This record gives sequence, C-alpha cells and structure tokens, in this order.
Amino acid sequence: MLSVDSRTSTIGASGEIERKNIFLRQDFISVDQIRSRNELDFLFGLADEMKTRVERGIQGCELKDQTIVILFYQPSSRTFSSFYAAARWLGCERLMGIQEMQTFSSAVKGESLPDTIKTFEATTAADLIVLRHPDDNSSMIAAQHAQVPVINAGSGILEHPTQAILDFYTIREEVGRVDNLTVTMVGDLLYGRTVKSLAKLLAIVDKGVRINLVSPKVLSMPDELTISLQRSGIQIYETENLEEVLGKTDVLYVTRVQKEWFEKNNQMDLYNKIKDRYIVTERIVKMGKPGMVVMHPLPRVNEIEVGVDALPQAAYFRQMRNGLYTRMALLAAVLGKV
Ligand code: NCD
Repeated sequence: MLSVDSRTSTIGASGEIERKNIFLRQDFISVDQIRSRNELDFLFGLADEMKTRVERGIQGCELKDQTIVILFYQPSSRTFSSFYAAARWLGCERLMGIQEMQTFSSAVKGESLPDTIKTFEATTAADLIVLRHPDDNSSMIAAQHAQVPVINAGSGILEHPTQAILDFYTIREEVGRVDNLTVTMVGDLLYGRTVKSLAKLLAIVDKGVRINLVSPKVLSMPDELTISLQRSGIQIYETENLEEVLGKTDVLYVTRVQKEWFEKNNQMDLYNKIKDRYIVTERIVKMGKPGMVVMHPLPRVNEIEVGVDALPQAAYFRQMRNGLYTRMALLAAVLGKV
C-alpha cells in the first residue's frame, strides 16, 4: 500500500486516537517507521488491554467485519499461530492463513510475488495482508502492489519488526524499565533478522542503550548496520567473549545459528564448526547481573540448555505469549478498531 503517512492525516472525531496511532491504515514493513517511545506506548497500552482480555477469556468482535490473509513462504510456529490467534481473539471470521506458500501456491508455477499478492487481495477481498518471505525486500514489494496494508512477519535476513515489538514489550515487562538498558545479543548476528530489528528499535526508543554484540567474527552483525546504530548515538560493543559482558547485562538475547542460510550458501562445513559456539547453561545465567533476563525469539536448537528453562531469568516462553497480545494490538491499530 505504502500510503500517506498517518501523522499528517486530518483529525476527526476520534482525532486524539488517530494522532497517536501511527499504524492506522499503514503498512508495517520496518521498525524504521517508529520514531519515538510515545508511538510504541500507544501500542503497548493496547497490548496490556489485550492481555487482560485474553487472561479473562473474553472474546472480542472488533475485526468481525474484516478480512485478513496470512501468507507464509517460510516455516513458522510462533509468528504464524500468534497472528492467526490474534485475529480470532478479535473476532475475525474471514481469516485465511496459508503456511506453505512456497510449495502450494502458484509460486511453484513461477508466479511473481506481486501477482500472488494481487491475487489473494482480489480473491478474498482482503482488508489486510500479513507476509513472511525469504527475500529481504519482499514486504516492501508486496506493499507496493497491494491496495491494503501489508504487515511484515519476517523478510529475509533483514527485518522482523513485529518480533522486535514483542521483544521490547517483553523487556518492559520483565526488566521493569526501558531506559539505559544493556542488551547483549549472542549467536548468529549475520543471518538472524530478529536481532537487527530489535537493535534498530532499541536505538530509536532508548538513547541510553548499550548493545553488546557477541558472535564469532564470521557471524558478526553487518558493518553497515553497526555503523548506522553508532551514528544514532548509542553504544555498541563487539566481542567474541560472552562471559566478559554478562556482569553488566540486563537482557541476554540469545539466537539460533540459522542453518537454512548456511545450506543455501553451501556453508555447511562452517555451520558445523560454529553451531555450538555459544551454549547458555545454568552456570552462564548465574554469572549474569542480578535481575538479568534471558530472551530468545525461538525456535531454540542447542544454544540454551533445557535446564535453564526452570530459572526465573528464563523469559523466552513468556516472551512468545507476548506475541499474541502485541499482534492483537497491531492488527486492531492498523485496521482502526481501537
Ligand atoms: C525467528 C525468525 O523467523 O526470524 N523466529 C520467530 O519468528 N520467532 C527466529 C529464528 O527463526 O531463528
């Protein structure tokens, strides 16, 4: 859609809400669209309401007259199910979710992404499209060809903006503050998209943030991104030594080494060499600053030992539940049903 910026939209009867709701009738492609903490606070206020509602088992009906299409070209458990459930919790009955677009859609016959997007929009009379796709610019392309808002549910190795929102919401819940945080990201910072979106979001909303990037050199965050993060005024520290930074870490954000990209790039020898480079054990967690929380976008492979799950610091299962609340908030905000 790539529509007019809602910040300039006229203020009507619900003007106050429209002004704060930067998501209203907009695509959500990148965390770069967020400019301030206030804009997120609007969404988090809604997510808090959604949480109370879900905990009480109260079914909503805001999206009863809306049609939502969820198209996934890559595997997913959490993102797909939470978008699907979020729409249902808000009463969406005209909901279509396809999880295997790469094998069951006309993409197999060679149809282009723009044509597929136009097709699903036309055949379902969609009001909103949620897309996950292996190409970095897929959501942008979809947004250019759709008449309705497109939400990026993960694009290539570059962006996963709704994950960043749920991650930041989790930090707010678990750490209890969102200022002057020290966030340590460990693992695959090259192919992982969640760390890139979260780092950019942190740089926008917490000017006092310090981000420690821990990875083997071959998996380090692309220079282009670290340079632009530093230019925004935040502190970035790169190291291969996890233990060195644990004592000052508020949030330990662990990621999986992304096997599928090594396979695609014929780098399986490298993958096997580095896949178990960082394994978070109970000992590692106990070395952390008191109150440190351990997060992970999941799925986990080997990088967090199962024994860690029982520790109070392990926030990753609570984190994925927050995906439901924040995605409910986002769907309602984009569709103007708040
Ligand atoms: C992540 C993704 O797809 O980028 N998963 C998720 O959405 N929670 C992380 C990953 O696959 O490693």
